[in-house]
Amino acid sequence: MRILRTAAEARAASRAWKREGLRVALVPTMGYLHEGHLSLVRLARARAGRVVVSIFVNPAQFGPAEDLDRYPRDLARDTALCEEAGVDALFCPDAGEVYPPGYATYVTVEGALTAGLCGARRPGHFRGVATVVAKLFAMVEPDAAAFGQKDAQQVAVVRRMTADLNLPVELLVGPTVRETDGLALSSRNACLTPAERAQAPVLKRALDAAAARFEAGERSAAELLSAAGTALAAAPLARPDYVDLVDAETLEPAGPALVRPALLALAVYFGATRLIDNAVLTPSFGSC
Ligand code: PAJ
Repeated sequence: MRILRTAAEARAASRAWKREGLRVALVPTMGYLHEGHLSLVRLARARAGRVVVSIFVNPAQFGPAEDLDRYPRDLARDTALCEEAGVDALFCPDAGEVYPPGYATYVTVEGALTAGLCGARRPGHFRGVATVVAKLFAMVEPDAAAFGQKDAQQVAVVRRMTADLNLPVELLVGPTVRETDGLALSSRNACLTPAERAQAPVLKRALDAAAARFEAGERSAAELLSAAGTALAAAPLARPDYVDLVDAETLEPAGPALVRPALLALAVYFGATRLIDNAVLTPSFGSC
């Protein structure tokens, strides 16, 4: 496995593979890798001859009061996991390579895709994400790039940015990988105390409670949100940041009754650690 540290090295490696007729897929990450990231490596591997994993804890997507310094890091372990997973190259630029002195260009996805959910609570977050992903695409020049549905709003933002900037990158989206108790894997789970960790599966239980009502025919957004909220309230350490239902495609607020696929999205604090999760509720047509 090659270790690439500069944009020039990343571009040279990628172009050399493409000259050999190989497709190159990128898996962008912030490291502290887990099975969710590795599932994206396998998805990328199935769709391309060469897989590049980037590891970069992107300062531009963290707010001033957020956990940039607390964000877990273990490059030695990440390197071993990538090697084991058959990754062809690890791209780990330092902050000065990505944002050199005088850096002044940012990519902003405007409108409903960034107005709600995490966009409303983390000002500047998706500007940082869109900027770094556009830069990673420019540095690695991948044919495809893999992202996780766990970060559904991120997928929507990256999809819009890629289309709007005419970037020739196919987006691959992988399902959320979970612990056996339902907790979505996240690098941030390492920040939970044992008591918080024990209650963290409540996010999935809240999604399941709303999904069960939905499956039983409930279409009222208020009722579905209330089912999720009631389930969350059962965990005393959980402090909901938001519980929201939006159109799965546009991320605009869902109407009072669901008629189109909707995204049920949650963000919940446990102490200083903020966890997110989501489920798509898809009304089936023609059954009544
Ligand atoms: P990070 O949180 O490291 O996640 C990297 C990728 O792994 C993202 O596409 C994310 O959606 C996916 N992922 C995380 N947990 C997952 C899970 N449990 N199941 C499936 N996929 C999962 O997301 C970022 O980094 C950054 O914002 C980044 C895109 C790298 C830009 O800096």
